Amino acid sequence: MSQHRIHIYEKVFLGLGVFMLLTFVGALVYASTMRGLMLPGEGGRVDPRQVFHTPPFDHLGVYKTGPNTYNAVVVAMAWTYIPNEIHVPAGAAVTFIVSSADVIHGFEIPGTRVNMMVIPGQIGRLTHTFTQKGEFHLLCHEYCGVGHQTMNAKVVVE
Ligand code: CUA
Repeated sequence: MSQHRIHIYEKVFLGLGVFMLLTFVGALVYASTMRGLMLPGEGGRVDPRQVFHTPPFDHLGVYKTGPNTYNAVVVAMAWTYIPNEIHVPAGAAVTFIVSSADVIHGFEIPGTRVNMMVIPGQIGRLTHTFTQKGEFHLLCHEYCGVGHQTMNAKVVVE
């Protein structure tokens, strides 16, 4: 009988495993229902070799699309973003439309929920409203080669 008993340590580790599983599932449910976590939307596809000649990436930059809406069209490439300085107005809904000219990059503005993977061949799309004026960093958070840690740009909310 005694050899079938579960050792106290095993019970503790089993309990810990179940607890962590429930915590992570709970965090995922919370993030996706309350905090706007989502899979990247199907923003479209583009030939990465032709990205600079394919609309909308043939005209990079920020464009007004409505009374208080803007598109920010950006290409990520090793190891910069084009344009490297993005000016957007505070309080406007800014849709970032992003693709890569080479490898997988990241597109993250810390302190906001702007956080995308930039996958060559795919177009990432994400809308964000900056409520406060100021300068933000735009960072690459996917390792993309020796220059990865220098890959950044500036977002100026004015
Ligand atoms: Cu681009 Cu890391």
